[in-house]
Amino acid sequence: MSKVLSAVAWPYANGPRHIGHVAGFGVPSDVFSRYMRMAGHDVLMVSGSDEHGTPILIAADEAGLTPQQLADQNHRIIAEDLASLGLTYDLYTRTTTRNHHAVVQELFLGVYENGYFVEQTTYGAISPSTGRTLPDRYIEGTCPICGYDGARGDQCDNCGNQLDPADLKNPHSRINGEVPEFIETQHFFLDLPALADALGEWLDGREATGLWRPNVIRFSQNILKEIRPRAMTRDIDWGIAVPLDGWRDNPTKKLYVWFDAVIGYLSASIEWARRLGEPDRWREWWNDPAALSYYFMGKDNITFHSQIWPAELLAYSGKGDKGGTPRQYGELNLPTEVVSSEFLTMEGRKFSSSKRVVIYVRDLLSRYQPDAFRYFVAAAGPESQDSDFTWSEFVRRTNDELVAGWGNLVNRTATLVNKNFGEIPKAGELTAEDQAVLDSTAAAFGVVGDLIGRHRQKQAIGEAMRAVADVNKYVSDSTPWKLKGEDERERLGTILHVMTQCVADLNLVLSPFLPFAANEVDKALGGAGDIAPMPRLEEVEDLDGGAPYPIITGEYSHFPAWERKAVVPGTPVEKPTPIFRKLDPSIVDEELSRLGG
Ligand code: MF3
Ligand code: ZN
Repeated sequence: MSKVLSAVAWPYANGPRHIGHVAGFGVPSDVFSRYMRMAGHDVLMVSGSDEHGTPILIAADEAGLTPQQLADQNHRIIAEDLASLGLTYDLYTRTTTRNHHAVVQELFLGVYENGYFVEQTTYGAISPSTGRTLPDRYIEGTCPICGYDGARGDQCDNCGNQLDPADLKNPHSRINGEVPEFIETQHFFLDLPALADALGEWLDGREATGLWRPNVIRFSQNILKEIRPRAMTRDIDWGIAVPLDGWRDNPTKKLYVWFDAVIGYLSASIEWARRLGEPDRWREWWNDPAALSYYFMGKDNITFHSQIWPAELLAYSGKGDKGGTPRQYGELNLPTEVVSSEFLTMEGRKFSSSKRVVIYVRDLLSRYQPDAFRYFVAAAGPESQDSDFTWSEFVRRTNDELVAGWGNLVNRTATLVNKNFGEIPKAGELTAEDQAVLDSTAAAFGVVGDLIGRHRQKQAIGEAMRAVADVNKYVSDSTPWKLKGEDERERLGTILHVMTQCVADLNLVLSPFLPFAANEVDKALGGAGDIAPMPRLEEVEDLDGGAPYPIITGEYSHFPAWERKAVVPGTPVEKPTPIFRKLDPSIVDEELSRLGG
């Protein structure tokens, strides 16, 4: 049993999230966390809304709101959506809490005192027409490294390199097309070259585990070759103040959004512990080198999790070329694994809110079951290569696999038990076929669990559904509906007992993927319907006197164990109602007509 930190990427609060976002970080992190809890580990799953940075400012301008008002609105929507998907965060918070600001400033000071910030004069972009700072993300141009001409000022999405706006060839504003003017400005740069050896050593050690996805480790080691100091402050008036005299009160200098956002994993862990009334509890996940930490995200976030965040941790802990000692938080653990997914596209195209090539989580959940979506992501999501969401494939997977495979097995089992016995019957003597199918579902725990633990969810759900097919075949072969005579009653009871046990087994095995259905299936077999704990939304006070806000949290101590639990003969079983909704093929055209041309 280990301490396991599930660190889930923080969604930008510049708008509601679409299914491409939650397919990357949301569903995989929850499947993993649910399984790890069932396997007996002590999981701490944290995240929150990423509310600083220029995207928020731009969206606020467009909406005629202050950045805080915009973030308030979107944080609430995002938190509600993530909770509706059943994502079991121990804490889903936000970056505008006073706690987060204080933790970020503490990290800054630790890095600063250890000498890993260098102050440099650089060129910052301003918009000639407004005189305002032009945010990096809103400057577009040609990538100086790969020549891609849609590169942004902060990063090139083609080659993945981090950039500075002044590096771009033919820079222009994405807002109005004008050519930015570059003026001299002072900034703090994180001295990444002084951390490169430590980063390289860490990555080599990670590579040796063989666990990281090949793309992720390769990319991370590659960007190490191009390492150079990176600015961690920005000319911007929205963000966290630089906690140094002469900077603290400067309204137009703030910490870079990525410097602060990644610290969210730590600040959320601290907030969680403080809310628990055990303010040092977070240390079990962060200071004990035996604790494990898994970071879940889409591939455009890799740089920040395999370079910037570990560099901040190393610098704070004093483990780069310049040495140093940690401040109050002590030596902090580096990521065990950066679990990055690839991209999801929508009907063959890139998601785009402006082109209406999008479906928001909220809209999806207003029309479809959360588990149908979770199933699609696990079975066909962008786990280790880009994948495409299409409505016809969504209908096919839901109807042919969920409804016809799993739903049908549950339904015929509960129906037959109810009709013939009204309760789970006892098993008599087992045939070789009975034993074989029982062995197959018992083995699914080991096989599926091992795959989820290694972030092979596609294969994991494939194995689980293969076991479902085995049981469906067992049912078809044993034809229990033909056993009508009094002398066949014991045999009938045995088959139905075996079926019930197999369904109960597979329900546990599928519960990390299909938690809503798991509770319904449990009820259908006469259980209490609480085998898959659910998150809840809660309004809380800011711990340090800021404004109240909604969080996601939950009580997750009653996860069932990841092993067979024997069904109890005599448990009443009612006539079931179908658990999964079959989709009418006409929804494909309906949904397609909602998309932009
Ligand atoms: N907001 C970023 C995005 O949506 C992710 C931030 S992850 C964090 O791409 F760790 F930095 F918070
Ligand atoms: Zn490039």
